[in-house]
Amino acid sequence: MELHRVLHLDDLVEGHPRRFELSGRAVLVTKIDGEPHAISDVCPHNGASLSEGVIKDGCVTCPWHFWRFSLHDGTRQGSPQISVEVFGTRLTAEGWIEVEVPAQEPTKSLREHLLESARRGPVSHTT
Ligand code: FES
Repeated sequence: MELHRVLHLDDLVEGHPRRFELSGRAVLVTKIDGEPHAISDVCPHNGASLSEGVIKDGCVTCPWHFWRFSLHDGTRQGSPQISVEVFGTRLTAEGWIEVEVPAQEPTKSLREHLLESARRGPVSHTT
């Protein structure tokens, strides 16, 4: 887990999303009722940037097809089986927002994928 100091709480406007690249991930950071929140900035539908959407009632609405995601638990409103990742936030004593983002695993090459697959052996098709 990597902790990133992103900006001061006073520099974040209530209900206005900001996008950050943290540990190789696009992260939406916003403030609701004075508290910082952070979720993935990538819509799981077609990849739109959620930080270009509108925030209202604790949810962000995707700008492309209007799916709504809770900024508290990341679930899609009306379809909670679909969600975006939620990242932990904390405030320092001086009011800086820090966001916890898991370190990104290094990308595997095709050769590494093939070797890993070969080591697992053939897939069984028995029922
Ligand atoms: S890309 Fe977000 S709802 Fe379609």
